[in-house]
Amino acid sequence: MNSTTRPLAIVTGASSGIGYELAKCCADYGFDLLVAADEPAINDAAQDFRTLGAAVETIEADLATLDGVDKLYAATHGRPVDALLANAGHGLGHSFLDQDFNAVRHVIDTNITGTLSLIQKVGRDMRTRGQGRILITGSVAGFMPGTFQAVYNGTKAFLNSFSWALRNELQDTGVTVTCLMPGATETEFFERADMLDTKVGQAEKDDPADVAKTGFDAMMGGEGDVVYGWRNKLQTTIANVTPASMLAEQHRKKAEPGSGEQ
Ligand SMILES: NC(=O)c1ccc[n+]([C@@H]2O[C@H](COP(=O)([O-])OP(=O)(O)OC[C@H]3O[C@@H](n4cnc5c(N)ncnc54)[C@H](OP(=O)(O)O)[C@@H]3O)[C@@H](O)[C@H]2O)c1
Repeated sequence: MNSTTRPLAIVTGASSGIGYELAKCCADYGFDLLVAADEPAINDAAQDFRTLGAAVETIEADLATLDGVDKLYAATHGRPVDALLANAGHGLGHSFLDQDFNAVRHVIDTNITGTLSLIQKVGRDMRTRGQGRILITGSVAGFMPGTFQAVYNGTKAFLNSFSWALRNELQDTGVTVTCLMPGATETEFFERADMLDTKVGQAEKDDPADVAKTGFDAMMGGEGDVVYGWRNKLQTTIANVTPASMLAEQHRKKAEPGSGEQ
């Protein structure tokens, strides 16, 4: 990307949902953008970001693959990255034994492997420069065993934990790490995870713009983590003192296929 005096943010998963809104927050603030997603819709989203004054480059890449991550990283062309918003991710409903293993692996490779690979590359540059902000989209799902969404919840537990550890490793380096932990949010997430017939899939959800603004502000403020919304805050507080067996049973009630009103 051409060098300018504006800071640069990378936002993954910026074609829809929370990532789209995070990219808008960045553009509003004055960042130029390098945005990535797996489908051509990222180019339409980029037009919206440009209307907010940002110079925007788009990359179509499967961030579940190391090649995809390399392609995204290469698109910086050495321009310093001031903020990395590692947000791309997806879920997968149904019982684990009934899931296609390639789909299982794609969840893990997107949410964990690709995310970590990108954070390591960009994070090393940030540490060398002595400045940078990293936002990781974890989830309140990481606080509870995800019956009928078991692999996804596991990946988010990983990210919630990883984020705090990386933050501590980077203390005093000038690089901050923040974990955004949304609750159920009105995006394409549940459709993609084939969970539209579930209670959680059909429930009223948070507005992705509000969720993203909370995460963006926390990142800019250098906070360690942020749970969006008082209901979700209450849920995570209770989850911390509730036996895992009970949490797994509660998750069954809202994520079991057919648990919605149809
Ligand atoms: N919605 C919720 O209830 C909720 C709650 C907590 C946390 N989250 C997390 O929030 C993040 C954003 O999800 P969302 O709710 O905004 O859902 P979304 O509307 O489905 O957006 C997901 C974004 O990630 C991209 N993406 C997914 N897999 C990718 C891959 N392998 N390579 C490149 N891009 C990929 C998608 O791009 P393509 O369409 O091009 O694949 C899309 O831009 C995820 O990490 C999710 O786990 C969501």
